[in-house]
Parts: sequence; C-alpha cells; structure tokens
Amino acid sequence: MILGIETSCDDTCAAVVTEAGEIRSNVVASQGLLHSRYGGVVPEIASRRHLELIDAVIEDALERAEATLDDADLIAVTTRPGLIGALLVGVSTAKALAAARRLPLAPIDHLQGHVLASTLGEHPIEPPFLCLVASGGHTFIARVDPSGSGPEAYEVLGQTLDDAAGEAFDKGARLLGLGYPGGPEMDRLAKRGDPAAFDFPRSLPGDGLDFSFSGLKTALLYRVRDLGDAEAERRRADLAASYQRAIVDPLATRAEQALERTGIDRLAIGGGVAANSELRARVDALGAKTWIPEMSLCTDNAAMIAGVARFQPPLEYPDYLALDASATVAA
Ligand code: KG4
Ligand code: ZN
Repeated sequence: MILGIETSCDDTCAAVVTEAGEIRSNVVASQGLLHSRYGGVVPEIASRRHLELIDAVIEDALERAEATLDDADLIAVTTRPGLIGALLVGVSTAKALAAARRLPLAPIDHLQGHVLASTLGEHPIEPPFLCLVASGGHTFIARVDPSGSGPEAYEVLGQTLDDAAGEAFDKGARLLGLGYPGGPEMDRLAKRGDPAAFDFPRSLPGDGLDFSFSGLKTALLYRVRDLGDAEAERRRADLAASYQRAIVDPLATRAEQALERTGIDRLAIGGGVAANSELRARVDALGAKTWIPEMSLCTDNAAMIAGVARFQPPLEYPDYLALDASATVAA
C-alpha cells in the first residue's frame, strides 16, 4: 500500500492507493474558505494551516482505508512545483513517517500526478495517450508513451504562453464579483446564461498546440466596464457563460488537433479545470476514447500522487533525508 501526501497549494491531502491502482481512500481538507476573504491563496496562511491539518488528514485517510501506518509499504509525497512553504510541510511529514519506519519514499512531481490521474481506478487508461492538463497554475497537452517512467515520462506538445486556464477562470470570476476559487462558481453561474450572448476572443497562438488566455480576461474587463455596474450585474450569467465558452473552446480545439496530429486515439483530462462541466461535455463529444476522471481526481488530491509512485523507483532510507522541496518544475 502506498500512502500519498499532497500539500503543494491550499488543499491538505492524503490518500491510500494500492500497487494495482485501487484507491482505498482519498481525503482532501480544503482551505478554500480560509483564503476566500483575500481573493486568492495566501502562501504563509496555507503552510500554517497545512501544519495544523496534516496529521489528522493522514489519520483520516488511513482510517477510511481500514489501514494503519504499519500497512504502508511506501510513502509518496509531492516535492514540486508549488508554494515552497506549503510543499515543505508535506515533505517534512513524509520524511518523518518514512524514516521512523525505514520505509522507502517517492518524491513526486505534482504535474505528473495530474497527467497520470486517469491511470487509477477500475478502467485505467493505458499509454500511449494524450492528456490535457488545465489547472490553476498550468495548462498543457502531454503525450505519454509506454516506455516512460519518472518525471520525464511525458512530452509537452503545447502549453499556455501566459495565463493558465484556471487562472483565467479565477480572474474572470473576480471581475464578475464571484468568490474564490472562481472556477466552480463560474461553472454554476454559466449554466443559467447564454454562451453566445457576448463575443469574447478565442486565442490559438501559432501553428502548434499552444494556448493563450491573457487577452480574454482583458476583454471581459472592458466589456464589464462598457456595460456599467448595474447592467453587468443583470447580465452576469450571460457574461459567465460566454466567458467560459471562450476558455473551453480553445481547450477542446487543441485536444482535438493533438489527437489528429499524433494519431493517438486515447485522451485523458486532468487538473482542476477538468472538473468544469462544459469542458467535460465537450471532451466527451470529441469522438475519441476519453478518460474523464471523477471530480475528486481532477482537483488537487493525494491519490494521484500515490498513483505516480507506482511507476517510478523510490528512494531508500536514508537517501531521502536530504530531500528538498522545489517551487519550480525543474528540481
Ligand atoms: O489542479 P487544481 O486543483 O490546483 C492547481 O494545481 O492549480 O486547480 C485549481 C483550479 C482553480 O483555478 C479553479 O478555479 C479551477 O481549477 N477549477 C475549475 C472548476 N473547478 C476547479 N475551473 C472551472 N470549472 C470548475 N468546475
Ligand atoms: Zn494541481
């Protein structure tokens, strides 16, 4: 059994996953409410809260899996990328637990967790496959081939040149006066609006598979200003639906182009934006073999982190004692 720990941003997460990819438990203590009054994640508050929650979250994950620490064969923990103070709480906890029991420890790349989330569960996706990852900090299309293992196991075919899709959701939601995180709220509001009401730009930069979302939020800003407060408020659902469509369109288009250009017929989605109802429906309608993980595997979670540990050799005791966290992708 693999105990996974994830504390890269504002969710305190622990999970128990088997070597076969069965998810025995997947616990997430969201700090969303704590940060919402600031309109975004406050790094120092996040790390302090991780410290308060991490032991209880791990205990809960073990209990739900009907296991104890004695049943763990391996500890997997996110070491990069993320908020450094937040990451360090998970890394220190994982090191302490592993060292006390002389267990091996697997340092995991958070993004690889999102890419490989669909390899978990009863109907795992098999390489070669493509994965569209769209989260609060990253947006890219990855190609996963059968031979790969370790953090370099996927090739990035295209990525955002500026804002991430989740960032576009969060910033747009803020302009519309919605709470943080904005994605889920925008998703809810958009269901009541007309996606054709406003014409927002769709950017597909270059001939490759890259994305660009920064122009979109500026377009929303100007549109809200032009409408004036009262009218923007009255037409909030239409604005949300049109804005969401302008984020989802290029994501779906690039996914479709990636399938065509690579000849690969299996597509997964991952990352918090993969929880978006419109994106899920659009990807489902692409006509490819698609893996759309349940919401809890899209947003940040520790099951996906434990899942990656199945594919990469861990560090043995005491080699991981000097292990450090890294804020950026390259450690
Ligand atoms: O993967 P994630 O949980 O954390 C990061 O690694 O960034 O992604 C968080 C992002 C946030 O920007 C949030 O607004 C967005 O995912 N998100 C959504 C939805 N649920 C979460 N965006 C659109 N629709 C949703 N339903
Ligand atoms: Zn994430």
